[in-house]
Amino acid sequence: MKSFDMLINAADVKGHINREIYGHFSEHLGRCIYNGIYVGEDSPIPNIHGIRKDIVEAFRQIKLPVLRWPGGCFADEYHWRDGIGDKSKRKKMINTNWGGVTEDNSFGTHEFMELCELVGCEPYIAGNVGSGTVHELSEWIEYITSDCVSPAADERRRNGREKPWKLKYLGIGNENWGCGGNMDAEFYSGVYKQFQSFCKDHSGNHLFKIACGPSGSDYNWTEVIMKKLRNPANMWTADGISLHFYSIPDWNNKGHALEFTEDEYKVLLNTVNFTDELITRNKEIMNRYDPEGKIALIVDEWGTWFDVEEGTNPGFLYQQNTMRDAIVAAISLNIFNRHCDRVKMANIAQIVNVLQAIILTEGEKMIKTPTYHVFDLFKEHQEGECVYCWHENENTADGLNVPMISSSASVKDGVMTITAANCSLHDEAEISCTICGFDAKAASARILTGEVHSHNDFDTPDTVHIDPYAAEITNGVLKIKLPACSVVEVTVK
Ligand code: AHR
Repeated sequence: MKSFDMLINAADVKGHINREIYGHFSEHLGRCIYNGIYVGEDSPIPNIHGIRKDIVEAFRQIKLPVLRWPGGCFADEYHWRDGIGDKSKRKKMINTNWGGVTEDNSFGTHEFMELCELVGCEPYIAGNVGSGTVHELSEWIEYITSDCVSPAADERRRNGREKPWKLKYLGIGNENWGCGGNMDAEFYSGVYKQFQSFCKDHSGNHLFKIACGPSGSDYNWTEVIMKKLRNPANMWTADGISLHFYSIPDWNNKGHALEFTEDEYKVLLNTVNFTDELITRNKEIMNRYDPEGKIALIVDEWGTWFDVEEGTNPGFLYQQNTMRDAIVAAISLNIFNRHCDRVKMANIAQIVNVLQAIILTEGEKMIKTPTYHVFDLFKEHQEGECVYCWHENENTADGLNVPMISSSASVKDGVMTITAANCSLHDEAEISCTICGFDAKAASARILTGEVHSHNDFDTPDTVHIDPYAAEITNGVLKIKLPACSVVEVTVK
């Protein structure tokens, strides 16, 4: 057992935690959409217009706030008109990025917007810049959001949707330094400004435009983009820039999702903890060009990426999910909370059956992964005020950055939420937390814990689950014990 002092000062507010920090990402990749979220109207699996009911319910339970679609790399080869109208007449195409499989376009704009309506989340559309045209993207926005008489809005009406939808988040391309066109930062900045100029606000809709930001630590990309994002009248042309960072210590040997050593666990956590430095350095650059903090940092792809499960299509990126992934998620979400002054959205990759998924499916079966449960434990941070939270810590790996404890705290409607992870695989942590600036009378807690390899599968879907847990407050001091390899949510009133 190791003891740690902790201090939370609710009077010291660090920033507002946008609910979108708890966002997700769905791509036409493997079984994320087809045979995942979308099974088709004729499926025996209970569905609403082809969208699985059990999945919608699971998303609602964690208050899923925003969903990014249709890619990823797929976005820059997606032509939205192929995915509207009579399904039997929709064009088929090859999904060149992901397994070369046939994409029949049966899940398109109307299906995605209906999914978001069912879940109650904001849609976030990534537009095609790499292989699309300015006109195509401009018409997509008009098709979705315009209430006027126009060719695109009339086409939407003919396709069964009288009223426009609201669309807030729009990405202008995806990874345009790579699969989205292999552009350099200078060239992309010009292309960005041209495309975004024709993505208009129609009928009271207001777009929040996101430019492609760096891959990981390509700080030069951030520098150039920030320098060039203003127009000749010195006005910002974007509301945010994206950042993609996957926790992959070695791209040539990503490792096994279920079988790993303690050393591999620590190397992975060292990579995850680098997220903090990455955001800090990107913020430093952004602060120089935008001291007022007008431009948001949108971490719209993050998570673990292991070798695909044996026997599955290598292009489908299907991997299992253990308590290790839960710890990764907890560390990442605590980091995003702590940087909520600039990080306004984050989207884990990807929501169902792909990479660090929160849901896995097999036929009619559906399981919630340990990562899903972390989103459940953290959901009360959404729209809270992030407050000062400090604790003693200990590095658990020589030569690496693997602190034993990760935490963050927020206050909303007179309730404090504290989330903490004990990343040690051996030692229990006893936390003694002084709470100031808040009348802390009572505490309750929930816990996710287990041996680091434990996971849920289709025969034992509930091996890793949330349990109620003990926490007590005496004279404003919270006492709680965190078992090795655990994630805890504490609610203080
Ligand atoms: O999430 C898988 C892929 O990773 C996305 O399509 C792409 O944007 C990133 O490289």
